[in-house]
Amino acid sequence: MKALIALILLVQLPIHKAVPAAPPAPLGCDDPESEAAAEFSVNYINGHSHHGYKFTLNRIKNIRIIPQGLNNYILLLELHLLETMCHVLSPTPLENCTVRSFVQHAVEGDCDIKLQKLNGKFSVLASKCHSHADSSEDVLQVCPVCPLLTSLNNTEVLTAVATALNDHNSKTPDAYLRLLEIGRANIQYEPAHVVFVEFAVAATNCSAEDAKVSVEACQLLPEDQSNFGFCTATMVKRPSQDLRVGCQLYGHQPGVTYSHPGHDTSAGLSPSVVQGFINHNLRLSHNNPFASESSSSEFPASAFSAKSVAKRAVADVAQHDKVPHPVGFLPPPPPCPGKIRHFKI
Ligand SMILES: *[C@@H]1O[C@H](CO)[C@@H](O)[C@H](O)[C@H]1NC(C)=O
Ligand SMILES: *[C@@H]1O[C@H](CO)[C@@H](O)[C@H](O)[C@H]1NC(C)=O
Ligand SMILES: *[C@@H]1O[C@H](CO)[C@@H](O)[C@H](O)[C@H]1NC(C)=O
Repeated sequence: MKALIALILLVQLPIHKAVPAAPPAPLGCDDPESEAAAEFSVNYINGHSHHGYKFTLNRIKNIRIIPQGLNNYILLLELHLLETMCHVLSPTPLENCTVRSFVQHAVEGDCDIKLQKLNGKFSVLASKCHSHADSSEDVLQVCPVCPLLTSLNNTEVLTAVATALNDHNSKTPDAYLRLLEIGRANIQYEPAHVVFVEFAVAATNCSAEDAKVSVEACQLLPEDQSNFGFCTATMVKRPSQDLRVGCQLYGHQPGVTYSHPGHDTSAGLSPSVVQGFINHNLRLSHNNPFASESSSSEFPASAFSAKSVAKRAVADVAQHDKVPHPVGFLPPPPPCPGKIRHFKI
């Protein structure tokens, strides 16, 4: 008996060894392996975005696996993301960042990511993304009076930001703040005329007193002392005038830098990348063409899941023949696209 068991083990051993700890052939979009790959990708995207807000995963739209060898494979992911309320400079972990709601005029992101998983570790080979705001019609349909996103270089927006920052600086004795970028701006016209703005700031080497003497001499703190922050302001223009400003400095975060668009680091008002746009486009930070083999020949949506769909269909038939389904039996969800985590746009 013992000998028999030993023999069985002996026979099985090489077989087990031959099977790599590789992923099961096609992955479903909601498989834990797919979710782990998507989470890694989203962290990469946020970590390498230079402007605007952190994005969070809304849906895994597609995933394809290309085996490369033992414990080595490439993953091609198509992700649908939604903008959160955390600026990319914010130290708040993504899990704690609130997703921007539909009525705040949501911004969505689409990314193609090429990942490698080698010996259990992910690395990003390429990322290609773009992001855009939902259409105004969509928002107005649900909420006719909601403030819509407006151009980041709109005159009313620029005025509101400058006024708000002045107001903050005039009331705060400590660090004199400069504008880094305007993150988003919404304007409402009815029943009141209100301008909502959000902007990233950085501390200078001046106090409010220093700035009164000579504001031109106030420089952003050097990298090893940098202190970024974020402000929100609401400017009511009609029926009466009102201004609310709130700013928060994050404190020095080693390794976190802000890359200025263009060369204009002194004036602060430098959103040259966003002239005429209503949101910061992820494309500016993620535009690696090699990620998008996905959308062309290598990543045909149809070829993608045909195999697994066929497999599932066969499995369903087989199961159907053997066991009568209990009442209320639901067929398994399709492997892709995966579930929606927040909302559909
Ligand atoms: C994030 O949220 C968790 C759970 O709500 C909380 O315990 C934690 O302190 C939060 N972290 C930050 C940095 O806000
Ligand atoms: C800030 O830095 C600039 C440039 O180094 C310098 O000229 C200025 O005096 C500094 N201001 C204060 C208040 O330290
Ligand atoms: C905003 O930028 C666009 C594109 O550069 C330009 O056509 C428009 O005149 C600008 N608007 C303002 C108010 O500066």
